[in-house]
Amino acid sequence: MEGPFLLLHFLAGVSSTHFLAPVIPGDASDSLHNFWGLGTDQPVLVGGPYLVHSASITGMELALKGNLNTSTLLKIIAPTVISSVTWNGAALSINASSSLTVVGGLVGELMLSSASVDITVTPRLEGWKFQDSLLEIQPMFDDGLFVIANHTTTNVPWKLYYSDGTILYRCDYGLPLNLNLPTST
Ligand SMILES: *[C@@H]1O[C@H](CO)[C@@H](O)[C@H](O)[C@H]1NC(C)=O
Ligand SMILES: *[C@@H]1O[C@H](CO)[C@@H](O)[C@H](O)[C@H]1NC(C)=O
Ligand SMILES: *[C@@H]1O[C@H](CO)[C@@H](O)[C@H](O)[C@H]1NC(C)=O
Repeated sequence: MEGPFLLLHFLAGVSSTHFLAPVIPGDASDSLHNFWGLGTDQPVLVGGPYLVHSASITGMELALKGNLNTSTLLKIIAPTVISSVTWNGAALSINASSSLTVVGGLVGELMLSSASVDITVTPRLEGWKFQDSLLEIQPMFDDGLFVIANHTTTNVPWKLYYSDGTILYRCDYGLPLNLNLPTST
């Protein structure tokens, strides 16, 4: 977390508040700005809400978007520059809290709108269908015929983007070719 020093926050196995760690997007010109460890390495910790979809910082304001399943105490551990917070676009009254961490934190109250309590969804959704896509966990699953990818050379002229040098082109292992390669014009 950005700041004068590194803050390590340990949470007990069953914390009374469930904390989420939305990432603060990095520079918008970076196509990986939403990807942790690539375009950004800054999270904030947010406790209380059922879900936090996104968090962003503009100047000294932290904008949070998320959902509530009940009114809750909002607890925020964020860079110390933050002095105002919005929740789904609405300004929130927040207080500094010295009990959250040794370097402080912010608390506020999020009220579940009474209008959202008695919503009835129609039509009733029934008869959900699903397909188990986790074949690997079935007791009868057998990978005995799998081909081991262990080649380190290939005749394919295009270099692999990823891999440790192991060739992962299907055709090198006698499997049908299915490459998504640029076509020459
Ligand atoms: C809200 O969601 C949390 C996390 O799933 C759950 O523990 C809690 O019981 C829920 N509260 C209500 C009022 O549904
Ligand atoms: C914030 O401080 C005000 C004034 O002391 C207090 O009335 C309010 O309850 C506090 N809010 C929270 C969430 O602690
Ligand atoms: C790759 O693995 C297969 C199956 O274990 C083995 O027969 C072959 O010698 C290995 N090839 C290389 C280049 O290690």
